[in-house]
Amino acid sequence: MARTYTIETFGCQMNFHDSERMAGLLEAAGYARVDDATLADVIVLNTCSVRERAEEKLFSRLGEVRADRPDAPALVAVTGCVAQQEGGAILKRAGSVDVVVGTQAMRRLPELLEEAATSGTRQVDVNPYDDVSFPLGMAVRGDPVKAYVSIVEGCNDFCAFCVVPYTRGHERMRPATEITREVEEAVSTGRREIHLLGQIVNHYQDPDDARCDFAGLLERVQRIGGVERIRFASPHPRHVTPRMITAMRDLSCVCRHLHLPVQSGSTRILTAMRRRHTRGEYLGLVAQIRAAIPDIALSTDIIVGFPGETSADFEETLSLVKQIEYHSMFSFKYSERPATMSSKRLLDTVSEAEKTRRIVTLQELQREIQLRLNEQAVGTCATVLADARSRRRDDELSGRTSGNTVVNFPGNPEWLGRMVDVAVQKAGPHSLWGVPA
Ligand code: SAH
Ligand code: SF4
Ligand code: F3S
Repeated sequence: MARTYTIETFGCQMNFHDSERMAGLLEAAGYARVDDATLADVIVLNTCSVRERAEEKLFSRLGEVRADRPDAPALVAVTGCVAQQEGGAILKRAGSVDVVVGTQAMRRLPELLEEAATSGTRQVDVNPYDDVSFPLGMAVRGDPVKAYVSIVEGCNDFCAFCVVPYTRGHERMRPATEITREVEEAVSTGRREIHLLGQIVNHYQDPDDARCDFAGLLERVQRIGGVERIRFASPHPRHVTPRMITAMRDLSCVCRHLHLPVQSGSTRILTAMRRRHTRGEYLGLVAQIRAAIPDIALSTDIIVGFPGETSADFEETLSLVKQIEYHSMFSFKYSERPATMSSKRLLDTVSEAEKTRRIVTLQELQREIQLRLNEQAVGTCATVLADARSRRRDDELSGRTSGNTVVNFPGNPEWLGRMVDVAVQKAGPHSLWGVPA
């Protein structure tokens, strides 16, 4: 009988896609997938360290894994951003871990598992490997409708709060020919929506063709037959160029949604964060984007309680959010991370209670804005790509509009992967509801 594996993923879309790639590597090495960790010969925990709480999840999960199987323990591999950052220290802290593989050494996972199983010694590889190629068709895609395609790996920006440049290494670009080949492969296996991935996805530049920047890549991907939608994550406001805005406006497959992480509404805090744009520049960019693409939906990321953030700075964040009216937002309490500039140079001055007060205030404001924007959609017809069964009701499907709003509607599972026109009848702060038109 084949040896079995399971992968549990914490963290962002990049990690989700790395798990798809590792699943491919393990299956090529003869492992078969099981969903129940208590039945697996190998358990892979693909980790995130962006905030302290994400990192803690690894250690609580390791405790559970060990308690589940006291007599016949599985081989346990820790991969991803915590693995890259902590390396061999994980082995000291957690006796049940057999293999630690960093983000750039992912391809060695099967080999290191084999070595650990045969020699009984624990294996660690957190070396940097610059190669960003990956065998075509190897990833086992977890979504029948959407395909994640990595275009840029690593980040050179070193925002003061962020651990990612340390966990993902310096920025490396994939050649456009490899990217388009992977998109063709994804389309040929039924995927309709392509998600281009990178830490600063819009900083893309083809290493082989000086004329192909991010806008050029969007054009190339749009030309591939069978691609119905293109999304990308995460863009950085500083790298939104006029060419990119024009490409988004003119390319019919590029969704009418732009994630534009602002982090704070105060120029003083943005400077301390090393985001390298001011409040005024950001607002100017939003005006430019909206002038070119009036129906675009914007979303953002915001950190509250960055070191030195005063009530007045936070008020500036609230006023910016009121002014822009984002369609959605991810908000976080500042969490001090090892090695980052803010952890070395700045004191975490804002108390936990104050961070909580600020995030609650911000989320209440955002909820009102979202509800208001979603209510404007009632009575209209929304075109959605049906991508999943609804989480709430068995006889309903769920999809997203081009602007990335979730719409639930009664429907047949056979429609998954199809575009459906939905007459919107109800709105909540997080989704719309309607009936097929
Ligand atoms: N590469 C992406 C985002 C990476 S992390 C970008 O540049 O936009 C995703 C989000 O997590 C960030 O946008 C930020 O809002 C949040 N984040 C990152 N580090 C954090 C920290 N130390 N504390 C709290 N939130 C953080
Ligand atoms: Fe982190 Fe900044 Fe790089 Fe984004 S751009 S990954 S927030 S350092
Ligand atoms: Fe987390 Fe690493 Fe992604 S730190 S957010 S999994 S790049």
